[in-house]
Formats: sequence, C-alpha cells, structure tokens
Amino acid sequence: MLTLVLSAIWLMLPAYIPNNVAVLVGGGLPIDMGRHFIDGRRILGDGKTFRGFFGGLAGGIAVGALEYIVEVSTGISLFSSLSYYHAIRVIVLLVFGSLAGDMAGSFIKRRIGRERGSPVPLLDQLDFVGGAFAFGFAFGSPYMGSLFTKEIVVTVLVITPILHILVNYIAYKIGRKNVPW
Ligand code: CTP
Ligand code: MG
Repeated sequence: MLTLVLSAIWLMLPAYIPNNVAVLVGGGLPIDMGRHFIDGRRILGDGKTFRGFFGGLAGGIAVGALEYIVEVSTGISLFSSLSYYHAIRVIVLLVFGSLAGDMAGSFIKRRIGRERGSPVPLLDQLDFVGGAFAFGFAFGSPYMGSLFTKEIVVTVLVITPILHILVNYIAYKIGRKNVPW
C-alpha cells in the first residue's frame, strides 16, 4: 500500500512539478494576452502566464530526467524500466499534459463564470491529472500503460486532491497564492 502510494507520487512528479514551479515563477504576460472570449470573459485569465508555462515545462522535464538518473543509481525500476528515450517521451507528455490540463481547467472555469483563483472543487485538483493522463495514454502507449497500471491510476486519483490541497495551503502560507486553493 505504501509502496503503491510512493510509486504513484514518484511517477506523477513530472505532472505535479510544473504547476508548483508555475506558482513560484509565474507572473508577467498572460498566455491569453489579456484577450476575451466571445462570452466577454477572459479566455484563460491572469493566472496562466508564459513565465509559469515555460518555467513549469523546464522544471517538470528536469525533475523527470533527474528521477531517471536517481532510479538507475539506486536500482529502483519505474521510469528506468523503459529505455531513456521512451522514459523521456512519457515524461514530456506528462509535463505538457499537466500544463495543458491546467489551462483547460482555467478555460472551463472562465466559461462557467468563475473568476481567477476561485475554487472549483475536483476541477482544480484533477484538471492537470486529466491532462497528463490524456496526453500520456494518447501519445505514449504502450509505455505509459506499462508504468501507469490500473492500481497506480486509481491511487493517483485518490491521493492527488489531498496532496494538492496540502501544497496549495503551503503556497498560500508562504505568500505565493492569494487564496489557499
Ligand atoms: N501560474 C502561471 N502560469 C501557469 C500556471 C500557473 O503563472 N501556466 C501561476 C499563477 O500565478 C497562478 C498560480 O500559478 O495564479 C496558481 O495556479 P492556479 O491555481 O492554476 O491558478 P489560479 O490563479 O487559481 O487561476 P485559475 O482560476 O485560472 O485556476
Ligand atoms: Mg487555482
């Protein structure tokens, strides 16, 4: 059980890291460049910035590559059960997918009239997971499936909302977020 939870967190780090890096380095020009959708609301809002996106991209890929190296030098076999090439491919898909899922979540939030930073339970906690899984399974099979078994997928869906709430509370406490969600 503990092994399952730790494996799930380890495998999901490339999807978890981008959003946390984005919180730390985000700011500046928003990805929607301030533009509005046909409903008159912002397309994505000021919470999705280029700095956050590219910082998250770099951070996520760096952490994934580091995980592979740590695995090889400690004998753990998760990402390193794949060749370096296939592992990096899965990692890049998890990183892009999580950032895309996070943006899709913001897009949906704006469409239903929720302002930037307003909480939408489950959407806030699982949009990036949905994106990471969608990208991974759509463009990374069969390698994605060999890492993310049914047990791992279910575990991720259960632990992510809990981890997300915890981490956001920390981000709020250290002043990186205006609201604790
Ligand atoms: N962030 C960023 N660029 C991104 C993603 C996140 O700059 N691509 C930064 C922003 O400073 C954002 C913070 O990380 O405010 C927290 O991200 P998130 O909770 O996803 O954004 P919210 O501000 O809550 O906005 P939304 O309602 O759109 O989710
Ligand atoms: Mg939010």
